[in-house]
Amino acid sequence: MATVLVASNRGPVSYVRRDDGTLDARRGGGGLVSGLSAVAAEDSLWVCAALGDGDREAVRRGVAEPGVRMLDIDPGVYDDAYNGIANSVLWFLHHHLYDVPREPVFDAEFRRRWASYRAYNRAFAEALAEAAEDGACVLVQDYHLALVPGQLRELRPDLRIGHFTHTPWASPDSLRMLPQDVREELVRGMLGADELGFHTWSWAQAFVSGSRLDDEGRTARVRVYPLGVDGEDLRALAYRPAVDERLARLREETGGRRTIARVDRTELSKNILRGLLAYRELLMVHPEWRGRVVHLASAYPSRQDLEAYRSYTAAVTELAEEINAEFGTPDWQPVLVSVRDDFTRSLAVYRMADVALVNPVRDGMNLVAKEIPVVSEAGCALVLSDGAGAYEELREDALTVNPYDVTATAEALHQALSMPSAERAERTKRLAAAATALPPQQWFRKQLEALRALPEE
Ligand code: F6P
Repeated sequence: MATVLVASNRGPVSYVRRDDGTLDARRGGGGLVSGLSAVAAEDSLWVCAALGDGDREAVRRGVAEPGVRMLDIDPGVYDDAYNGIANSVLWFLHHHLYDVPREPVFDAEFRRRWASYRAYNRAFAEALAEAAEDGACVLVQDYHLALVPGQLRELRPDLRIGHFTHTPWASPDSLRMLPQDVREELVRGMLGADELGFHTWSWAQAFVSGSRLDDEGRTARVRVYPLGVDGEDLRALAYRPAVDERLARLREETGGRRTIARVDRTELSKNILRGLLAYRELLMVHPEWRGRVVHLASAYPSRQDLEAYRSYTAAVTELAEEINAEFGTPDWQPVLVSVRDDFTRSLAVYRMADVALVNPVRDGMNLVAKEIPVVSEAGCALVLSDGAGAYEELREDALTVNPYDVTATAEALHQALSMPSAERAERTKRLAAAATALPPQQWFRKQLEALRALPEE
């Protein structure tokens, strides 16, 4: 039985089946993993979904890391819940991504998938109910598991339940697109928690204004915990010989020119296409930068089961090729795109970038905006959209833009490239201080303490 439990779709470990049939456990990185390991006691448990064949095989063979329980959910139910609802409906609503003349369509197929989403949440609620000690604290993560707090509260009213949303929360108008009963089920599910956490005040307020229900339910407290980065850990990772080597190679490839960097998943909400259009406009309107700057765009392939993501990834590569064809010369390639999961390269890019472009249309936090100033060698000017959660903490020392305004973004890139190096270094220092204000371990511990401090019911 556990006294601290975490629940998330993606867990801290995943298994890959080797050719000889044995299983290789790969520990994931990220804030949650380091946050939990800081407080992990013998009696803590992380409940997550088995995501691929390797994970399912591990569950079947009874292979498990200490403190981790993977749920082998029926693959069809899982696909409906993860791809069909979490990533195609909830993600789109929270990030305002719908192409409204065509989407969303809430039909019988949607209802079928919603039932799977409910069942997938239920599998988590049951596993948590079974494993939790009396009065234990449960920290449920993200939009995949929005119904868990309510379902778990019904099964185990004695538990202290927190839910944290890592995405933005949909504006009330966007949330109202959902069929009324589904919207109410979603909100009621969330309100099963004692405390609801968000990265920013904007997302917390959106939740409060869009979540009024007609009946009198229980009250949940809404709080803001803006996740930051662990500066020491990140610098230790970024200043390793493997990264030094990549850096030397990248410096050769870019010929010592100035660099504008971006690092994202191939994700619709990251606004990569408008970022490329802004770079093109910069080269058109400020021809003095031609031949003197390189745009390093790194994108990790993501959610390629969804057609919208596959075609977006293709569109990014095509636009980069167009820009290269339009402006490139025999000794200068204006854009270098890397569509690969390559963290070593990203760290090298973080160290060398003169300018970072972080222009999502909407983003829960965006940790890249926080990581770059922490790792930068000589200072990096940050062009940051007002749609990123990080905007609330970083806006004073960033050059801020409306993510839809390509011309303003091009102008901000010009200003960033023209910024005197002393000013850039000063701003970077202040950005790094803001970025490390609430590192993952403290972020996690604060939420746990808040749950523990709740009065007994
Ligand atoms: O909150 C958004 C989030 O869950 C992040 O934690 C993570 O960066 C991203 O989405 C990953 O998505 P997926 O698990 O679908 O690859």
